[in-house]
Amino acid sequence: VSGFTAEEVTGYRAETPGCAHVAHLNNAGASLMPAPVHDAVRGHLEREALAGGYEAEDEAADAIADTYAALAELIGGASEEIAFAENATRAWDMACYAVADLGPGDRILTERAEYVSQHLAFLQLAKRTGASVEVIDDDEHGQIDLGALAAAMDERVRIVNLVHVPTYGGLINPAAEVGAIVREHPRTLYFLDACQSVGQLDVDVEAIGCDVLSAPGRKFLRGPRGTGFLWVRESRMAELEPPFMDLRGAHWARGGEGYELLPDARRFETWETYVAGRVGLGVAARYALAVGVERIEGHVIALAAGLRGALAELPGVRIRDTGARQGAIVTFTVDGVDAGAVAAAARRAGVNVNAIPAEHARLAFDPRGVDAVVRSSVHYFTTQEELDRLLAVVSAAAGYRGARI
Ligand SMILES: Cc1ncc(COP(=O)(O)O)c(C=O)c1O
Repeated sequence: VSGFTAEEVTGYRAETPGCAHVAHLNNAGASLMPAPVHDAVRGHLEREALAGGYEAEDEAADAIADTYAALAELIGGASEEIAFAENATRAWDMACYAVADLGPGDRILTERAEYVSQHLAFLQLAKRTGASVEVIDDDEHGQIDLGALAAAMDERVRIVNLVHVPTYGGLINPAAEVGAIVREHPRTLYFLDACQSVGQLDVDVEAIGCDVLSAPGRKFLRGPRGTGFLWVRESRMAELEPPFMDLRGAHWARGGEGYELLPDARRFETWETYVAGRVGLGVAARYALAVGVERIEGHVIALAAGLRGALAELPGVRIRDTGARQGAIVTFTVDGVDAGAVAAAARRAGVNVNAIPAEHARLAFDPRGVDAVVRSSVHYFTTQEELDRLLAVVSAAAGYRGARI
């Protein structure tokens, strides 16, 4: 495996207390926090208990400012373009529901990798505004069909939504190629769901050309749960009127008659928030930067490719990943065995993987007749020994099915 040496991996594992307890192959669900992240969250909660919540926040002002800076650095944006959110969906919602001029005749283009929560929002927006929602099909690799996207574009396309890496598989969608197509149409806003790619891949908003990016803290970034962030390109900020505001995002004018939105992405935030999580999120972003996102990308891609190959050799196991380029997520089914039962057997054996139901990804799974897949997702601290433990569980599950029949 290219990327990190065995010594480096051992060092990262030593900084990850969870590695001593479980083979964690659920980094696409929520990764294991490194000790510095855990310490930062715990330390802040301690200060809240001892000094008072507002006072602890004042003490943490520099750390909070650095969270914006670190997240911006991670994705190649500016600090003022970042807003905190409690998860990736709310981050994304705050920008998507902010496209206030959507109306009949406007078109929203999305694609098959779309996550359930986004499509629910699009269905509601279509119902409210009369805009249409159209799904761009996949190409022969199972990634967005770039030719179909280019052909579908016109001046009525207000939003193009792309999931960089879906919840359901190894696919890495060609985000920069989509950006090149969308950039030809100045009215269109390009939303990138980077939920599964931030922390896994080297994500650069300039290279990709997106206008909006959303991501959570807890997944490949290894931050605390209950955190996420939004990035909005400065030049598109004025087009977006947040669906909700509080005193954080806007000033109430003297006399009480009007309000003025903050000029930057803080307009999408709320005043009350999980401050300890924000502090921890910044530490997680700094940690990823120190480890090196380019090296993480190379390492996890190679590690996952090895796992994919080994699983494919097992009788009765079918790899379900699509895409010309594949990353850290490896999905499969075992003939005749429920995905939930495989995940439960793995959990009992101390290996964390989970089952992804079709309802999370209907546009991808329903046409293929897939009900659920087992999802395993590696990270740079994963070892071959952990992968071997998963392979043993899956072989046993496949064999057990054979014995029963
Ligand atoms: C591709 C993708 N988008 C969006 C989400 C939603 O993120 P959150 O649960 O932080 O709202 C997920 C969660 O798994 C996801 O995998």
